[in-house]
Amino acid sequence: MNTTAERFVPTLATLSASQIRAIRSLPPLGQTPARTDESSRPAASFTDPAVYAQEQREVFRRVPVPVALSVQVPEPQMFLALEAYGLPLLLSRDAKGQVHVFLNACQHKGSKLVERSDAHKAGRVSCPYHAWTYSSEGKLVGVPRQEVFPSLRKEERGLTELPSREAGGFIWAILDAEAETADFSAVNDELVADLDAFRIGSQHLYGHKTFHLDANWKLVIEPFLEPYHIQRLHATTVAAMFADVPNITDRLGDHLRQVSGKANFEPAQLEGMRHENIHKTITHAYVLFPSTVIITSPYYISVMIIQPRGPATSTVEYFNLTREPADNDKARELFARSFEMILNVFGNEDFRAACLSQAGLESGALKEVLYGGLETPIPMFYAILDKHLARSTST
Ligand code: FES
Ligand SMILES: [Fe+2]
Repeated sequence: MNTTAERFVPTLATLSASQIRAIRSLPPLGQTPARTDESSRPAASFTDPAVYAQEQREVFRRVPVPVALSVQVPEPQMFLALEAYGLPLLLSRDAKGQVHVFLNACQHKGSKLVERSDAHKAGRVSCPYHAWTYSSEGKLVGVPRQEVFPSLRKEERGLTELPSREAGGFIWAILDAEAETADFSAVNDELVADLDAFRIGSQHLYGHKTFHLDANWKLVIEPFLEPYHIQRLHATTVAAMFADVPNITDRLGDHLRQVSGKANFEPAQLEGMRHENIHKTITHAYVLFPSTVIITSPYYISVMIIQPRGPATSTVEYFNLTREPADNDKARELFARSFEMILNVFGNEDFRAACLSQAGLESGALKEVLYGGLETPIPMFYAILDKHLARSTST
């Protein structure tokens, strides 16, 4: 956790080597070439239940996905129950600080073990039904009137645990309790170096809001993969802060990192600002494959864990991270205003656009959707997604 003694400011000097390289490759605004690459995707990709089922099988139940932020379970002996990607999960941090991701289901008769939705320090949890009790490591440690289960071996009835890992300030899990191998190679070093440079794991969780959207998860992601809409959809809100030019996009394994200069950015400015807040000048936008978005702003970081719930429905867990808690009136006012502003921009503009697209695509009006030269990170993202989906169609 940050203390007020430690005032971290992200600067060009604190970024990862690869983030610095990307920023240094940004061209002067006037010399940014217009891109003309065009591509398309079948409209059915956003509406067909068979595509949704394939994505669930080949991606969301197979690759490591962020289920929470580390800062949501900050201390040893804490529990946090949440719904993630449609599954009831119970997260814990044990006495040694190790994170566990369990299915939130009692081993007696399946009752949800923890109903409350806030993180709480408990050491152990007791089922509301018959009070079977589990440790923060998931071990069954107490069974009332155990003599009525003469064959029960407590050591065989621990909670069902999913493979998990904590890295870069996220708790990642593979959402398949039967997974034979737990392959976390997708959480690669270059990505973790970038996330650690932002200190995602030691930010202050200022705000959290859940959105339930009538839109396919990919339509919710798309606006975070292109600058084309910014001057149009956001014309009356944030458009003036950005330029109408392509981003620099890099692949970090299956994850995408975009960097862009704010409006009027010129590379020469970088020389004089090694120790200034870099996010006043540069915006970072990541899509962690498959569906987590990170966007930087000067005074906060937005993290969105986007979760498919059906072919035409998604849930977004939006988190607003600040470098430290607001400890004076000016900061309180700034954080509150920023939080309200960003919820409005994402909620009433980007998410609304996703829902509008879904409604139009459901009508059957289009066979395919089109992407132009200011949307090129979108086909990059689909090349990665399709590589995963091809696993099942090629076998
Ligand atoms: S269902 Fe949990 S103790 Fe019975
Ligand atoms: Fe947007």
